Amino acid sequence: MSTSTSIQFTLNGKAMSVEVEHHIHVVELLNRFQLKGARESCGQGLCGACTVLVDDLAVSGCLMPAFMLHGKSVETVENLSAINEPLHPIQEAFVDQGAFQCGFCTPGFVMMTKHLLALNPHPSDEEIRDFFAGNLCRCGTYPEIIAAVKQAAEKLHP
Ligand code: FES
Ligand code: FES
Repeated sequence: MSTSTSIQFTLNGKAMSVEVEHHIHVVELLNRFQLKGARESCGQGLCGACTVLVDDLAVSGCLMPAFMLHGKSVETVENLSAINEPLHPIQEAFVDQGAFQCGFCTPGFVMMTKHLLALNPHPSDEEIRDFFAGNLCRCGTYPEIIAAVKQAAEKLHP
């Protein structure tokens, strides 16, 4: 029985065709492309550090089997702004508000913010807290993260 599958998908706007083993998850596949923003921490869908957008929906890259990306579009934090280019308004807001310390959780929160603001252009504090219930920050920068989401909302949806 075959242990791998050929898939075609879009990664940060580029068409990809790869052979993936059935046991690997999305975050492991991304690492093979040197995309290290989404990182595996808990590996159980509990922390959000591995969050990426698949067809514009936030998913835990540590849980989704990579072969399920066939025919889908994946966006990672690396797509928001290239090196030496201006930051995306969400990234800018996280910097302005000091919404991170070690930064380990930040790519996950940034991609969750992108999903949230697409669904709800001006979320309340409570809606932000609810939406981020599955994302953990060991450094405890939650108040600053909420402020960053609100700043990004104002910039993206004035
Ligand atoms: S590493 Fe995926 S949710 Fe924690
Ligand atoms: S900034 Fe350190 S875990 Fe969130």
